[in-house]
Amino acid sequence: MTHTVLVIGSGGREHALAWALGRDPEVAVHIAPGNPGTAAVGTNHPVDAMDGAAVAALAVELGADLVVVGPEAPLVAGVADDVRAKGIPVFGPSGAAAMLEGSKAFAKEIMEAAGVPTADARLCVSMDEVVAALDEFGAPYVVKDDGLAAGKGVIVTDDRDAAIRHAAGCRRVIVEEYLDGPEVSLFALSDGEHVLPFEPAQDFKRVGEGDTGPNTGGMGAYTPLPWAPEGLTAQVVRTVIQPTVDELRRRGTPFVGLVYAGLALTSRGVRVVEFNCRFGDPETQPLLTRLQTPLYEVLYAAATGSLGDHAPLEWGSGAAVGVVVAAQGYPASPRKGDPITGADAEGVFHAGTALDASGQLVSAGGRVLTVVGTGTTLAEAREAAYAKVAGITLPGGFHRSDIALAASRTGRDDD
Ligand code: AMP
Ligand code: GLY
Repeated sequence: MTHTVLVIGSGGREHALAWALGRDPEVAVHIAPGNPGTAAVGTNHPVDAMDGAAVAALAVELGADLVVVGPEAPLVAGVADDVRAKGIPVFGPSGAAAMLEGSKAFAKEIMEAAGVPTADARLCVSMDEVVAALDEFGAPYVVKDDGLAAGKGVIVTDDRDAAIRHAAGCRRVIVEEYLDGPEVSLFALSDGEHVLPFEPAQDFKRVGEGDTGPNTGGMGAYTPLPWAPEGLTAQVVRTVIQPTVDELRRRGTPFVGLVYAGLALTSRGVRVVEFNCRFGDPETQPLLTRLQTPLYEVLYAAATGSLGDHAPLEWGSGAAVGVVVAAQGYPASPRKGDPITGADAEGVFHAGTALDASGQLVSAGGRVLTVVGTGTTLAEAREAAYAKVAGITLPGGFHRSDIALAASRTGRDDD
């Protein structure tokens, strides 16, 4: 029997989801709105991801067995609720549960109630409060916009004036304690009650080599992490993810979808840096490349409340490295409309791409492609990824050349 899946979104994460779902001969993949990359692995539909009524109508029309909502903006806007109201299983939290990502203040409240370790923080609604909180915690200063900001609402700086200027541009502001130590992205599927973890990955957030320059949505990622402490995943499930899922269920807003825990492994233990309510981008591209468990079956189990006695996810024994190719000017003001060549190779996931009037593939966003290489070791996977990057042309485009470099050389994190 063929299963029909509708994936909502148009980024690199959605291309990877559609690709991984489509590896299964029993799955027919549809994407709305998708991008030129997803068109190669499924059928694109020109429906706006933010239009819940239109998404629900498309799911009904296709006779979808499962809808997977990829990005945070439609989730926070309640698009999953609109589809669920039609009686169709959805992988992706309700608008209420998506507030775990939609409001950093809400996430802090949940973590406090659930006893989940995170940075000490102050929610500020005036500049006087901001200045007081900055001076309370001291440098390095961490200032976050409370709402969704595509990974760009945060500044971490030693410059007090820059911290104050960033706060002035936000609506509601969180000022928090600086967390030292390597970062880990840990994903877990949740059916609202039970959780099933992924293997850990690491994302490179800063735009420049050596972790310099402004934060971005993510410039590259790799998995597995040779330096991750033994038992990390089980510990994070026990102390972070399960208590968070329990707390949301207790409040009557169960979380059905993917819990993304962004963690810092500090000298005082694991701390949550942020929660996201969906698959991370670009971590998803290398992670799904290594996943061996059929994706449809686990997403469907999560969407229908039946993860309880599911076997652990299975992973390929090798490594995967994803390198983002970004447009000139990213993240401040990415240039669009540049022609791209070489983007149809296996492992090249499209994000900000489009076809122009003549059918030429062109850039259409800040992060244009994520290029994934695999190998038995991280070093081999890096080599494969960068060899594919070298086969791509994008005028003005750039990438970081140090993704997974330290870990592949020394087995340690680059911090
Ligand atoms: P967020 O949007 O909260 O994930 O923040 C984006 C990035 O800013 C994180 O991935 C970290 O690299 C950095 N960051 C956020 N909060 C902190 C913190 N409290 N201490 C140190 N770095 C942080
Ligand atoms: N990789 C960071 C994010 O997805 O938010």
